[in-house]
Amino acid sequence: MSIRQISIALIGFGNTGRRLAELLVERAGAIEERYKTRIVCTAIATAHHGSIVSGAALDLSLALDLVRHGKPLMSLPGVEQVKDSFEAISRSSAEVVIETTPLNVDNAEPALTHIRRALETGKHVITANKGPLAFAAREIQALAASNNLYLRYESTVMDGAPLFNLVNRTLPLIEIKSMRGIINSTTNFILTRMEQGSSFDEALSEAQRRGIAEADPGHDIDGWDAAVKAAVLANSLMGADLKPGMISREGIRHLERESLIEAYHSGKRLRLVTTIERIGDRVEARVGPEEIEAGDLLYVIDAFSNALIFETDLMGTIAIVEQNPELTQTAYGLLSDLLSIL
Ligand SMILES: NC(=O)c1ccc[n+]([C@@H]2O[C@H](COP(=O)([O-])OP(=O)(O)OC[C@H]3O[C@@H](n4cnc5c(N)ncnc54)[C@H](OP(=O)(O)O)[C@@H]3O)[C@@H](O)[C@H]2O)c1
Repeated sequence: MSIRQISIALIGFGNTGRRLAELLVERAGAIEERYKTRIVCTAIATAHHGSIVSGAALDLSLALDLVRHGKPLMSLPGVEQVKDSFEAISRSSAEVVIETTPLNVDNAEPALTHIRRALETGKHVITANKGPLAFAAREIQALAASNNLYLRYESTVMDGAPLFNLVNRTLPLIEIKSMRGIINSTTNFILTRMEQGSSFDEALSEAQRRGIAEADPGHDIDGWDAAVKAAVLANSLMGADLKPGMISREGIRHLERESLIEAYHSGKRLRLVTTIERIGDRVEARVGPEEIEAGDLLYVIDAFSNALIFETDLMGTIAIVEQNPELTQTAYGLLSDLLSIL
């Protein structure tokens, strides 16, 4: 039985990229058996550990070890150091580029240029970075299509929970009338803790200690993360062309613990809700705190959990819930995209 080989370039080797690398090492046997394919990595780009390309498979376990110990990737045997991530993409012979650099809510860079460069040089793209899909979905989808390449992004919203796959692969002809959900873990955790009696600052510090909130949590708290995700959902699943700045947005900074406790005692909960709806021939989206009634499907979505409810024409209401996701779910979303490209 012949085993084919597919090569990938990891652009970004942080939490998500490294967890994916671990999964590729852990599951190599199962992938080889089921897909008759060996996935090899031939390029890695980072901001502080260097960027490298190789003509042969890199030792991913050793790469993980080097980065864990703060050593440069150049110490890997048989690799060539390149100037930066752009050169790594252009010079790499990888068939698939996996983009996991940080989100930039101003202009989606450098991820957007990474994706353009990959598609222009004949490589499929998988990304966990929602910026490029929020700012330039139509452009990069057209670029992928015109080059006969795949562009997959399941991990951009609700980690590996199948949202894009659900709609695109299992619901043919469906029209989505609206989507409504809790799609930001940090704010949901803070609001859950506040209704249990914590102050905003205590809840935020706990989220940061538990590694969920960023050191600069403004993106989450002011609703930017949810607005960027709303743009990705609207553009990908409802044919819209929204930019994050076009989405009406209110964060949770001004909410008071007393209001949350009071709502809770009267059988309601205050949550940061994202709504995207078709109104006539337009698609509109908004992000903001809402009081949720006990009968609402979102009522039970606590702590780090997320949920998205689809209202559709032919399938009525469908909801996807992701219970307290961790890094593995995000990395699995990337892996599932890679396996579906295989
Ligand atoms: N973490 C999650 O649970 C999660 C969930 C869904 C989506 N995402 C998205 O996934 C992406 C990655 O998240 P993460 O948590 O893995 O971030 P992270 O830990 O900060 O890792 C980012 C990686 O990108 C590298 N990088 C930064 N700027 C670069 C540049 N200009 N060129 C090349 N490499 C660069 C960093 O290099 P150094 O290692 O040298 O710093 C690091 O390896 C983000 O867009 C995030 O929004 C994350």
